[in-house]
Amino acid sequence: MTLNQEEHGPLLAVHSVDEFVFSVPDLGQARHFYTSFGLDVRDEAGALALHTFGHAHRWARIVQADTKRLLWLSLGIYAEDLPRFERRLTQQGIQRIAAPSGAGTEGLWIQDPDGLAVQLRIAEKSSPSQPSAREIPPECANAGRSPSRSRAQATRPLYLSHILLFSADVDSARRFYEDALGLRLSDRSGSAIAFMHSPHGSDHHLIALAKSDGPGLHHSSWCVPSLDAVGIGAQQMVQAGYPQGWGLGRHVLGSNYFRYVRDPWGSYAEYSYDIDFVSPASEWPAADHPGEDSLYVWGPELPQDFVFNYELCESLTRTGTRNTP
Ligand SMILES: [Fe+2]
Repeated sequence: MTLNQEEHGPLLAVHSVDEFVFSVPDLGQARHFYTSFGLDVRDEAGALALHTFGHAHRWARIVQADTKRLLWLSLGIYAEDLPRFERRLTQQGIQRIAAPSGAGTEGLWIQDPDGLAVQLRIAEKSSPSQPSAREIPPECANAGRSPSRSRAQATRPLYLSHILLFSADVDSARRFYEDALGLRLSDRSGSAIAFMHSPHGSDHHLIALAKSDGPGLHHSSWCVPSLDAVGIGAQQMVQAGYPQGWGLGRHVLGSNYFRYVRDPWGSYAEYSYDIDFVSPASEWPAADHPGEDSLYVWGPELPQDFVFNYELCESLTRTGTRNTP
């Protein structure tokens, strides 16, 4: 039995979204958006690297190109699992592909059913191994518990919780992420949306899949430690020139409180607080939920184009959609 099997059992599964990489037409616009959002945006070899303050991990990179487009995903695996994944992919007849231009060649490169390039690479587990931080103001007699506006801290997310990918066939994509990559279904709503966790322990979803006509990045979601941080983040983004979005609200599937901020390309960055957590090797009771439960318990009305895949409309992502309704 390998070290990994002793530590993690005979599981063979991806443990983290190690990094997602996408292009935009204007890196300056991206720098402004994600800096305003509260991320630590660094220059790196002509690209932008997205970090969270106080955390060593690089969660994402943004490169310059004509359009906004999700380019590839790098998924983290344990070192001991690399040869096991190689065998599994071969057994399942999954072809290896060349690394996309600009990507590292290490690990295993394959394509998901939507044609998205996916890298399996050895990495430290960056997905959480315990429930996310929850700061609740303590009970305090004869004193106000609200933070004062004058002393309110800007919101700075703690870590990447999950990404939501568009897919032309959610059921096929779900089977691929289950059968080839070892993720497990948390919840779904028919063939419209599916939420997947890692059996090594992760938030309720580290990857979610939503129906569209093709691939794309709908949103990245960033954990914040309090409901105040969600509200303050929403406010700081309005002040930075990003008033469009959805929320404050609460999801049913995943349970998190949310505010989605619309980015300049018609996709979103989400502040997420208090998402459900799936402990390592535990059994989450996956279920198929009615459509009305697939989005929210409460919150403002959904923007009409909330699940529209702007990556399939090149002319819009080329110019930015920030000022369109
Ligand atoms: Fe989300």
